[in-house]
Amino acid sequence: MRKPTANLAVCLLAAMAALPAHADGQRFDVRNPAYRQECGSCHVAYPPQLLPAASWRALMNGLDRHFGSDASLDPASHAEILRYLEANAGRRHARAAGKPQLRISETRWFVHEHAEELPRDIWKHPAVKSAANCAACHTAADSGDYSGRSLRLPKGAGK
Ligand code: HEC
Ligand code: HEC
Repeated sequence: MRKPTANLAVCLLAAMAALPAHADGQRFDVRNPAYRQECGSCHVAYPPQLLPAASWRALMNGLDRHFGSDASLDPASHAEILRYLEANAGRRHARAAGKPQLRISETRWFVHEHAEELPRDIWKHPAVKSAANCAACHTAADSGDYSGRSLRLPKGAGK
């Protein structure tokens, strides 16, 4: 005998699988060519959805002092990328000490999401080095895919 609740679960799973690619919190559209070119060369092009517009504005206001690098842009590219980031920004709150947070990896969401399955010292693992190095574990981060399917933890990184 099949239980009706099991059927409901199957239906729900099917409905979730049918969601558009950008709507599940794991797959993001990072295909904007200017963004990829200018913001995807030193690290992966981070999903715009993972920071709110205020954070992107603050970050874009300080590109000449960008985490110890100079990531300055010409005014036209700067305007285009800022517009793209604002249009695709997330809504999750990301402020600390009264200021917009500049790091995805320091947001409450990120810390919480990554604390459950990972040992606390994972970010110092030689194959990871920094929480900003998304691709160390999310092997398809470059294409905006953070799903479980492409997640591979470096050796010795599991709890
Ligand atoms: C010249 C190299 C370079 C370029 C170009 C660059 N970045 Fe970065 N970015 C860095 C470095 C270095 C870090 C710090 C990485 C770390 O902590 O391991 C960083 C970190 C970041 C972070 C924080 C990551 C986290 O969550 O910890 C964001 C967000 C970011 N960059 C966005 C951008 C955007 C948007 C652009 C394009 C306007 C850009 N970057 C262009 C070098 C660059
Ligand atoms: C050391 C490995 C590691 C690094 C580096 C890492 N992650 Fe993750 N990430 C994980 C693991 C493990 C999970 C699964 C957590 C879970 O399912 O409880 C995860 C989950 C996620 C999810 C999915 C959350 C959800 O709703 O299912 C997103 C999005 C994500 N990470 C983004 C990022 C971004 C962006 C970066 C870089 C700024 C990053 N991660 C760096 C290991 C990592």
